[in-house]
Amino acid sequence: MPDADKTPLSGKDYGIGIPVANPAFPLRGANNYDWGMKDRLARIFNPKSMHTVMLAFDHGYIMGPTSGLERIDLSILPIADLADCLMCTRGALRACVPPTVNKPVALRCSAGSTVLTELNNEVIGLEIEDAIRLNASAMAGMVAIGSQFEALTIKNLCQLVETGNRYGIPTLGVTAVGKELTRDARYLGLACRVIAENGAQFVKTYFCETDFDKVTAACPVPIIIAGGKKLPEKDALIMAYRAIDQGASGVDMGRNIFQADAPRAMLQAVRAVVHDGFTADAAMALYEDLKAKG
Ligand code: 5RP
Repeated sequence: MPDADKTPLSGKDYGIGIPVANPAFPLRGANNYDWGMKDRLARIFNPKSMHTVMLAFDHGYIMGPTSGLERIDLSILPIADLADCLMCTRGALRACVPPTVNKPVALRCSAGSTVLTELNNEVIGLEIEDAIRLNASAMAGMVAIGSQFEALTIKNLCQLVETGNRYGIPTLGVTAVGKELTRDARYLGLACRVIAENGAQFVKTYFCETDFDKVTAACPVPIIIAGGKKLPEKDALIMAYRAIDQGASGVDMGRNIFQADAPRAMLQAVRAVVHDGFTADAAMALYEDLKAKG
């Protein structure tokens, strides 16, 4: 039992006249969320820059042993410390990622058809209890706007949002990778907006060369970009720079990191763009320097 406080009332500092602090939560669209939801988002989005560098290695759920991910323990674990958040499946997480890595996880929760059949025919592949057991900081589900699986995948997204809101876990809506889907600003803008309107707390999409700033402007929650297929390192840094410059809140990159010549150096160069405002040229110089130093 603590001793009774005998300090006279006059000796206490009640801060009379000083307004009680009530800071706004600076992430786009997030001010009205509950505490747990904000806490998880603040683990993903660096509270200083409000940007994030997520490392995606969930490709196996549709592609099997993707180049660079044959051995997650050998390719991802040595660079995981540099990521703000890890995006993966529960299978890879339990089997390959020790909890001592201690990084927030965006858990891939939609599952279904693989590259061998028709992509995007997905369901929600896990119960919310498993996401909680894994201490997920976000749940990710793919949404195939404009495909024959549009309504199904929006239903999946709504299920994630519904259960995530119940427990304070944000949902990441991921725009689909289907071959038939055009990646222009008109399509991406529509897809991102639909995903946000259905309650996702953040959206992952692709960068487009023209009018990407309109895609981010019309989306009321943060957008992060996927890297897509492997590009020359300089091109990947240019893409990251242009996306951030045009309003993206970060990247969720996979192949352009773990398939790079020097994955640790690449992740640091991407961080420099996303968090420190480096231009693509400056980030490329950093990459070359770090790569040379091994
Ligand atoms: C697939 C995904 C992947 O996580 C995503 O494509 C990120 O990886 P990459 O940068 O290699 O494209 O969400 O739906």
